[in-house]
Amino acid sequence: MSATSDNGAGSPRGQLDLESSVSTAGLDPKRRRTLVRGMAAVGGLGVAAVAWPFVTSMSPSARAKAAGAPVEADIGKLGAGQLLTVEWRGKPVWIVNRTEEQLATLDADTARLSDPDSGQPMQPDYAANATRSIKPEFLVVVGICTHLGCSPTYRPDLAPADLGDDWDGGFFCPCHGSKFDLAGRVYAGVPAPTNLEVPPYRFVEDGLIVVGEDQGAAA
Ligand code: FES
Repeated sequence: MSATSDNGAGSPRGQLDLESSVSTAGLDPKRRRTLVRGMAAVGGLGVAAVAWPFVTSMSPSARAKAAGAPVEADIGKLGAGQLLTVEWRGKPVWIVNRTEEQLATLDADTARLSDPDSGQPMQPDYAANATRSIKPEFLVVVGICTHLGCSPTYRPDLAPADLGDDWDGGFFCPCHGSKFDLAGRVYAGVPAPTNLEVPPYRFVEDGLIVVGEDQGAAA
């Protein structure tokens, strides 16, 4: 059954219903038809007047568009080893300016990692490399644990008491103990099943990243 047949508007049945609900007794047949057509036209305008706000509310709002829009991140003043958080699509996105020492840890002991070569599709193709990034020093990842969605903590400190002597720096999720290295790669034997997600991003220029837009192949 179509929508038209559901409400009867514009159909012979709709006109019949309108005639039966409007008192036209005592009018000559010609005037009676004119009155019914007039009522139907007014009814149609009424439907249009009611439908317009509804259609308007169904349109994507500016707010919804803004929520999904790419976001710029000014990383010009992001110091070595520092982390910047921007919000994209309601999610925290971390940008870390990794030091030479931090980059050196990435291939120090990959046997401890669950997916060291980024085999799972948790990053764009241009970030499926040894550093999981376009430029080696800048890591860009979604700051949400791939286990149950907590936000891990950036822990660049080496061998802290709570994380052990073999901790080279990375991200620790306090909810259930998942650990990720400084490329967002998950360690084996923790609850999180995959590496942290690398979102689409591109460099507009040195010091300016857009999160939410693809760069294409890494240089
Ligand atoms: S949500 Fe991070 S370990 Fe469970």
